[in-house]
Amino acid sequence: MKKYLEKLPQELKRIIGLAAEVSEETAMPAYLVGGFLRDLILGVANFDLDIAVEGSGIIFAQKLAKKLKSGIRIHERFGTATLTLDNCLKVDIATTRKEKYPSCACLPVVSSGSLKEDLMRRDFTINAMAVSIAEGDKQELIDPFGGKDDLTSGRIRILHDLSFKDDPTRILRAVRFEQRFDFKIEPKTLALLKEAVGAGLLNKAHAHRTRDDLILMLKEKDPLKQIKRLGDLGGLSFLSDKLKFGKSTQDLFKAIDKEICWFAKNYSARRQLDAWLIYFTALLKPLSLAQLKLVTGKLGLRKGEEKRIISYCQESHKLIPLLSKKGIRPSRIFSLLEPLSYEEIVLLRSAGCQNKYLKEYITDFLEIYNGMRLYVSGHDLHGLGILPGPRYQRIFAQVLAAKLNGRVKTRRQELALIKRLIKTQH
Ligand code: CTP
Repeated sequence: MKKYLEKLPQELKRIIGLAAEVSEETAMPAYLVGGFLRDLILGVANFDLDIAVEGSGIIFAQKLAKKLKSGIRIHERFGTATLTLDNCLKVDIATTRKEKYPSCACLPVVSSGSLKEDLMRRDFTINAMAVSIAEGDKQELIDPFGGKDDLTSGRIRILHDLSFKDDPTRILRAVRFEQRFDFKIEPKTLALLKEAVGAGLLNKAHAHRTRDDLILMLKEKDPLKQIKRLGDLGGLSFLSDKLKFGKSTQDLFKAIDKEICWFAKNYSARRQLDAWLIYFTALLKPLSLAQLKLVTGKLGLRKGEEKRIISYCQESHKLIPLLSKKGIRPSRIFSLLEPLSYEEIVLLRSAGCQNKYLKEYITDFLEIYNGMRLYVSGHDLHGLGILPGPRYQRIFAQVLAAKLNGRVKTRRQELALIKRLIKTQH
């Protein structure tokens, strides 16, 4: 493995070198494991180091954090810790452990164990390898399940027949890694995966865990590929029996890919999009409101996430025809788009991508209307004898509408309009 380790960026080599020092000082053997090692062999950049320690992962992590002068977050219950460094590097450190699943899809009972036992508890052969970080060692690959061979041949393989029953989220992980790396789930694993899907095991797993793994699928480079494969395997039914990933949703996913790029190119300074949420909303769009609420409730999404999904699904069928007509006034465009999040706007543009007016209106909204400010302030209204209250908002909204439509431009014109409004509204 030395030749792989030597190719790592300098900063990662420095961290591994310091971890090797801690390992020697504490006499606790430590290993690179999991996704980091998998990606190292594949030649894929990965800046999340996974270290497994025979002894105490927490003590090891505290000592390494001191050497690195990094932040540390300790999860006492799991015997794990995460170090975060300034340059976005992350180091996950865990005590090697064994796991026992008391029953199907239950959280495992965890106790400390050897490295071999730690590798045995893992999901797939490609994630169940280790290499010692001690400089003195030959740093040979520890690969009890043929992970390297599977990695070279592009195979996703579980370690034992009960793997999906123990942890049904591995169904989602199997598809995710298969599609990410263009691998194939090998035949026996595939048969057991289909059996697990057929038995409804995804519904038995803890909903927040399936949610998190589903979100990870939607965050992959090509969500369409991910969800298509999952749907073909019947793996979407855990969300809702009514859910289909048909041609129109697939086309919508393709349009979303483009619109996300468009937004990132032009408006990335506004804020980072929750791109996964856009795909997820598109996936759920064909459901009725009642079915939709069942799904979002079951998954325990955050309030803000649920709100954006439901709002889009309720409003888009009205908004698309309204915004597809020629000659809509800017104030109307503003009032239709202003209540929407950026995610909803990007999805709206994807769904209406055939209509040039809708696309133009959305661009105008983002470029001009959304940033338009009034010269007048509450201070001016106060000066005109109006006491603070809901009336302020009404007046500002009217002045802004006039400004959007080009009827007022200067501060003097804004004030003149306000005076007229005050008179007529008395
Ligand atoms: N793991 C597992 N079963 C799970 C989740 C994780 O066995 N349900 C193990 C795997 O060995 C995995 C490691 O824990 O490699 C780290 O998990 P995670 O960080 O979720 O995955 P990565 O393999 O690092 O994948 P990614 O590249 O997507 O981060």
